Amino acid sequence: MEPLKQIDLVIEDIDSNELKPKVSDDELVFGTHFTDRMLVREYSNEKWQTGKIQKFHNFSMSPASLVFHYGQAIFEGLKAYKQINGDIALFRPDKNAQRFYKSAQRMVMPPIDPEFFVESIKKLVALEKGWIPTKLGTALYIRPTMIASEAILGVRPSHEYIYFVILSPSGPYFKEGFAPTKILVEDKYVRAAIGGVGEAKTAGNYAASLYAAVKAKKQGYSQVLWLDSLHKKYVEEVGAMNIAFVLDDVIYTSPLKGTILPGVTRDSVLQLSKDLGYKVKEEALSIDKIEETIESGHMTEIFGMGTAAIIAPVGGIKYKDDILTVGDGNIGKVTAELYEQLTGIQYGKIEDRYDWITKVVD
Ligand SMILES: Cc1ncc(COP(=O)(O)O)c(C=O)c1O
Repeated sequence: MEPLKQIDLVIEDIDSNELKPKVSDDELVFGTHFTDRMLVREYSNEKWQTGKIQKFHNFSMSPASLVFHYGQAIFEGLKAYKQINGDIALFRPDKNAQRFYKSAQRMVMPPIDPEFFVESIKKLVALEKGWIPTKLGTALYIRPTMIASEAILGVRPSHEYIYFVILSPSGPYFKEGFAPTKILVEDKYVRAAIGGVGEAKTAGNYAASLYAAVKAKKQGYSQVLWLDSLHKKYVEEVGAMNIAFVLDDVIYTSPLKGTILPGVTRDSVLQLSKDLGYKVKEEALSIDKIEETIESGHMTEIFGMGTAAIIAPVGGIKYKDDILTVGDGNIGKVTAELYEQLTGIQYGKIEDRYDWITKVVD
């Protein structure tokens, strides 16, 4: 096992009587509990300062900080898994480091060196390993974030930033767990346009999605399926997941053309699908074709893919006034196979043949 690399990071002591009580695996939902420590690193005077692992705390910031007004903020999401042999594993953290780097560039923020990104997370997770839940489907969710902290009004890139990482022991993203969800196809509002910031993991993309998401929730749908902004015809992705369609045994997913988030899970699932012998096409399907092939029985499965949601079977969709059941409304064969493969590698039940796993050691 590789030893931890030397990086510009100090670890502050916390008194053991300040530690919070742990939460049992059965009580865990997504994103409500936070561990005892966090990582904080400030950018000022044109450089990143020494990173610090500190007690989890609130920030004190000027109300004039640029992030509050103009939304210069990016984030990431990855997980630490407790594997069946007790090892602690991160899943493809280098991909998150690269995406964070690109998001920073797109939002004119100072990038974090990918080595610091990965190594500092390994240190933080090692210190907080007692918080990693063990039950299948649970994990320690890791949220690296960067915000513009300079206190000044005026639309321009900040000269000061805070990078921080918080950890949240988490259960299933959807209350259903690994069970079919229903999604609503949004035909009026759009998430991203060509030339915009759709492929960056920036806070504004999520703020812009809320109106449609609330509308969908009111109708009983857990997520919105976005269509392209130009024709309102081709499917793009779901609120917090990429999406795939099984049509005549071929797995389709939208191509990476700048408007969707290049998902780590999407990339992994495409590889695993090929390994299972499926043909994969990175091609955007039109909503008309999806409706037509669900009705004719050729489209047998739809599933979402994302770190938080893992693989999420979609049992039904609504588009305008049409309400359709996908297949028989239950979890399909391809979806179940891919869930087994992906979680098998993450939890150490299946060989990590692509070196996707980074072990965390003390
Ligand atoms: C909009 C959006 N698309 C797709 C994904 C899936 O990406 P990943 O598999 O890297 O978690 C996410 C989750 O982060 C997301 O927020």
